[in-house]
Amino acid sequence: MTMLLRPRGERVLLIALAARMALAAGLVVGTNAVAQTPPASAPPTPLTIHADRSGPIINRDIFGQFAEHLGHGIYDGVWVGRSSSIPNVRGIRSDVVKALRALKTPVVRWPGGCFAEEYHWRQGVGPVDKRSSTINSNWGDAIEPNTFGTDEFMDFVSQIGSEAYITVNVASGSPQEAAEWLDYMTADKPTTQEKDREANGHKAPYRVKYLGIGNESWGCGGAMTPDDYVEHMKVYARFARNLDPAQSGPLAMQRIAVGPDGAKQDYTEAVMKAWKDRVWSWSIEGLSLHSYTTGGWPPAYAATGFAEKDYATLVKETLGMEAMIANTTAIMDRYDPNKQVGLIVDEWGTWLAPTAGTNPGFLVQQNSLRDAVIAALNLDIFARHADRVRMTNIAQMINVLQAMIVTDGPRMLLTPTYYVYRMYAPFQDAQLISTTFEPGVYGQGALAMARVDAIAARDKRGGVWLAVTNIDPNRPADISVAIEGVKARSVTGEVLTADRVDAVNTFEKPDVVEPRPITAQAVGGRIQLHLPPKSVTVVSISDQR
Ligand code: AHR
Repeated sequence: MTMLLRPRGERVLLIALAARMALAAGLVVGTNAVAQTPPASAPPTPLTIHADRSGPIINRDIFGQFAEHLGHGIYDGVWVGRSSSIPNVRGIRSDVVKALRALKTPVVRWPGGCFAEEYHWRQGVGPVDKRSSTINSNWGDAIEPNTFGTDEFMDFVSQIGSEAYITVNVASGSPQEAAEWLDYMTADKPTTQEKDREANGHKAPYRVKYLGIGNESWGCGGAMTPDDYVEHMKVYARFARNLDPAQSGPLAMQRIAVGPDGAKQDYTEAVMKAWKDRVWSWSIEGLSLHSYTTGGWPPAYAATGFAEKDYATLVKETLGMEAMIANTTAIMDRYDPNKQVGLIVDEWGTWLAPTAGTNPGFLVQQNSLRDAVIAALNLDIFARHADRVRMTNIAQMINVLQAMIVTDGPRMLLTPTYYVYRMYAPFQDAQLISTTFEPGVYGQGALAMARVDAIAARDKRGGVWLAVTNIDPNRPADISVAIEGVKARSVTGEVLTADRVDAVNTFEKPDVVEPRPITAQAVGGRIQLHLPPKSVTVVSISDQR
């Protein structure tokens, strides 16, 4: 491992040197700002923001979450029960609600995942003592008490100010079961289901923004051939209706079909061909893509204590998301050149070896600075493809895989990935602005990849935002930023880094990987950004207009 902590004395000297050089360069490091090593001797890399060349809107749902009934994702992570000593509102833990509100979480996918294909919604509504207990055979054979069901999920998304993305059971359910679930959630007239919903405490229809028609039908969702799935999809797309007239027109529920398994595109071809040849009675508005960063299967890469080679391997693999989206988009473009069907990356993130001593079926893993870098790079890729990518859902929100939040009884911990989502919140619904820069090369053994990645966007109030990731764990990156046609004045924002790429937050030391403020003044209309190795930086740029 070559990127590790420098000896303490050397760091202090470097910090002092950096502060002097920063002052000379017009760069002001805010209080508690991250310790910066001095600029490399190479001239700064120019980065130009083409403010006049605006791109697509970066749909806020690109920053969505996924919460499955899996391990401690729902039970303990979201639901503690009304009588819990952990502060809660109607059984939903308040610390988690507050943390997710701070992320401006736009949408949550639920109840799975593979769990969705075994879920029978009726078992999870009505008086709690009458609900069924079942076995969660996908995930560690845990008892599923069905205490957290539709009404609890809708209460949760409402508490965090988010939208619902519901996945219906295609493999072991039926079109009738799905239709009745939609009736329960959305009917505004006194149907039997609507009256049940009202009896369960909710008179007004729930808003269902997205409907997933099955999950991984090529795998855990029934191992169907693409053609077989397409026949099921058409029926569900027709009969799983949103019955609320208020959810029509531009507010109509978006139906998401199962799509490619990573780079395997047979579902993409079959679903998009069916969509192109569709008749009046059905349609879909989205195609799902699942692609995890694993380093191979089964996932065996350690979440902590790993070498630089493992960092480089997973970062390089994750950068493959760009080609995966481009390839899927190219196929979709053949059937849908006007981009009516959105690409929905509703499962992505790192999937690593489970934490020792945990149930392997609960998919528990630590979250390091490497996860933060991987999250930022993927968000950049999604934003660059925002003309086709309309929603993504990182797997998963709490206590599972690349989580935002970890809980342990009454304690709650925010992960490095959480902070990336918080830093990127200004990009929600902002307009992508093109940037040009020389990404450079980060090499590790035989592996080579871009050294720097960046996106820029203009928010609704006209503010310009820049996100830059320095992938290189060993060298700082000096970037000289200019906005075309505009004299930049200063930047303010945050930088996320740590001494090691495998640095993690723990309950004992929760602030090892936390964003620190960063500010810089322009010199001659350009901003000089000094990015620490292995860091994610998001800044707002002020100009002199
Ligand atoms: O996120 C964990 C699992 O990964 C999901 O249940 C499934 O859809 C995917 O294979």
